[in-house]
Amino acid sequence: MSHYKIAPSILAADYANFEAELKRLEATGVDYIHIDIMDGHFVPNITFGADVVAAMRPHSKLVFDCHLMVSNPEQHIENFARAGADIVTIHAEATKHLHGALQKIRAAGMKVGVVINPGTPLVVIEPVLTLVDQVLLMTVNPGFGGQAYIPEVAEKIAALAQLREAKGLSFDIEVDGGIDNKTILSAKEAGANVFVAGSYLFKGDLQANVNTLKAALHD
Ligand code: DX5
Ligand code: ZN
Repeated sequence: MSHYKIAPSILAADYANFEAELKRLEATGVDYIHIDIMDGHFVPNITFGADVVAAMRPHSKLVFDCHLMVSNPEQHIENFARAGADIVTIHAEATKHLHGALQKIRAAGMKVGVVINPGTPLVVIEPVLTLVDQVLLMTVNPGFGGQAYIPEVAEKIAALAQLREAKGLSFDIEVDGGIDNKTILSAKEAGANVFVAGSYLFKGDLQANVNTLKAALHD
């Protein structure tokens, strides 16, 4: 199995029809479902919470990759575990207790992810890299789908891949925001291996777009 993974963001799907959307996504051969949780506080927008994730859970066997764009994420971790989340990724900028919050995700039986915004340096997460299965580097400022990829993040991806090597660690490097058939190449070349895509995939033919992203990864 390829170590590259495509993670469609449900943020760009039809909210009135998650069951059908999940089945449609699963049929395209993607790996993860990326679920964007926004609280109207850490980011301006509001999406959905753990109850909606629980309602989706029976309709998909795919890995639920929950990206929590919420303040004080440590308060919500058990709810996401009960809802059936597989990976919970929290923002370093959203908690005063990053190390403890990541330990809480592990203790709740889920895979552990940490994420930083484009303006946040890697040094902020360096002390917790041994705790995580995944580091998400935002390639847009979080809050909305459909924004343009920030090319400068490629340097941070490459630096993180080097740091991982130097420390002998093996976490995945995920990127999120503005990923399409061109930007995916920049992120891949820099060292990312999990690619979130929302608006690119859902515009037009979903299967054809998934195939195009997969082809870009295997060139
Ligand atoms: C942005 C979200 C992303 C978003 C990506 O805050 O975290 O997951 O859905 O959407 P696109 O691919 O349209 O940039
Ligand atoms: Zn996201």
